[in-house]
Amino acid sequence: MRACRYRRLQGMCALLLCVSLVLHMLVASFILSLYPPSCKSPQPPGCQPYTNLTSTSLTHSERRGAHEEHVEVMDLSSLEALFSHPLYNLHLPPSPDEDWLLKVRTKGSEEQNAAQWISNSKEGYDHIDWNSSANTHPSWLQFHLGISRWQLYQHRDDNLPVLLKQIATSRIVSAVQKTGGTQLKLVMTFPNYGQALFKPMKQQRHEETNVNLYYFSDFERHNAEIAAFHLDRILGFRRVPPVVGRLIDVIKEIKDVTTDHKLARTFFNSPVGNTCFYGQCSYYCSTEHAVCGRPQALEGSLAAMLPDLTLAPRRSWKNPWRRSYSRSKLALWENTPTYCNAVKKTPPYDRGTRLVDLIDMTILDFLQSNMDRHHYETFEIFGNNTFLLHLDNGRAFGRYSKDEPSILTPLVQCCRIRRSTLLRLRLLSLPHYRLSDMMRTSLSQDPLFSVAPLLAEPHLSALDRRLATVLKTIQHCLNQQHNDVIYDDIPDYSD
Ligand SMILES: *[C@@H]1O[C@H](CO)[C@@H](O)[C@H](O)[C@H]1NC(C)=O
Ligand SMILES: *[C@@H]1O[C@H](CO)[C@@H](O)[C@H](O)[C@H]1NC(C)=O
Ligand SMILES: *[C@@H]1O[C@H](CO)[C@@H](O)[C@H](O)[C@H]1NC(C)=O
Repeated sequence: MRACRYRRLQGMCALLLCVSLVLHMLVASFILSLYPPSCKSPQPPGCQPYTNLTSTSLTHSERRGAHEEHVEVMDLSSLEALFSHPLYNLHLPPSPDEDWLLKVRTKGSEEQNAAQWISNSKEGYDHIDWNSSANTHPSWLQFHLGISRWQLYQHRDDNLPVLLKQIATSRIVSAVQKTGGTQLKLVMTFPNYGQALFKPMKQQRHEETNVNLYYFSDFERHNAEIAAFHLDRILGFRRVPPVVGRLIDVIKEIKDVTTDHKLARTFFNSPVGNTCFYGQCSYYCSTEHAVCGRPQALEGSLAAMLPDLTLAPRRSWKNPWRRSYSRSKLALWENTPTYCNAVKKTPPYDRGTRLVDLIDMTILDFLQSNMDRHHYETFEIFGNNTFLLHLDNGRAFGRYSKDEPSILTPLVQCCRIRRSTLLRLRLLSLPHYRLSDMMRTSLSQDPLFSVAPLLAEPHLSALDRRLATVLKTIQHCLNQQHNDVIYDDIPDYSD
């Protein structure tokens, strides 16, 4: 019986994968014609300028008072002012075709296969009626089609609020455990075949990580995943996949819809009557570490899934400054001040933007105090000349009372930074665009804000303090008369 169920599950998965693949292929085959020449990067498909930031607000609680509403509206205008600043609207050269992640042209036979799939709409899923017209594509597909060599989504991408809202509100058709990771996470599927990665709340927002816990055994935090997306966007990187918070009904939206029997078996009722589960994984998947609804409602983060690996393979790179992941050993970089000189001579850091991309990631990680960046990924199709995906930020924002200077080591040792990054960091240190204010405002747009602010105030102040440290570090480099501190990626921009 179990074997039979298992086979059926496998079959379902294979079917889902096929549907997803074929749909990708079908739409990808039209991709070249979707972008009229005048519409190529840096503008989003459709060339619609997106100006109303308010419309990115998701479902807000009615419970908040008029005073707070007022503050929030005022704050949104300051975030809007930041995003209108020329440093966020730099004129980039048009992208050639090979700068889009998905651009496969398929043959007629494959399109016929797709037609066959389209006629078989599955139970619980929407009927598929999209074609080569971009406005018929579901938002997850528009997101995938908008990924380019240098960013995951465009500045003022008008699909982004649509995607976030869809992930935050769509019915959940299926929830299964994601295999491979060390901690519990679920892949949730929506009626339009979109998918998102769910990480449950494990720690209260005001709690700090236990100081005796090594970073590699720290919990993953759902609010850190959400905050990292907002921080990365405010820094102007756009290298974290869109993440949104959501209250999940653990019975109706996980237990009742899962086909994952290993997961279903771990559900139980706690002594106070809350519904809990713990799943199967290598860390913290036991009754002692169960995640529990109250009594059924569970907070979590939902991250938009990147295109399937079969369609857009990724390459994983060792971070040259990775930690030793041992309780006793130091890594070479920790006691070799000239370590960067060697890195600078080693491909792919010896050319292009790889080193300054790594510095961008370093700055993001120092600001959010994420020590867990042993590897990073890129899209294989773009070779060495592409942005670094800032995936997996669940271990960020663990502590606010302490900074972790070692995270900044690549910047300290290399003394190199993109000019556009530096100028945006300086902007975010000005009273008018203070980083903590921008983050508070941006995070107030997440649906979970109605439960509680996503980051406690001490975390927000820590951001300003750490930003000052980054700027001081760069000033120190400049004072030492290094003549190659600044990598000028925006020579036409005068400040
Ligand atoms: C922006 O959108 C919101 C609702 O989505 C609307 O109430 C507001 O008037 C709009 N603002 C502008 C400037 O268009
Ligand atoms: C796509 O479908 C819409 C209706 O859903 C239709 O109006 C449009 O003409 C179709 N476009 C193409 C290129 O087939
Ligand atoms: C890309 O980087 C690798 C190092 O990992 C190097 O061996 C390869 O030659 C580089 N490719 C190009 C085209 O520079």
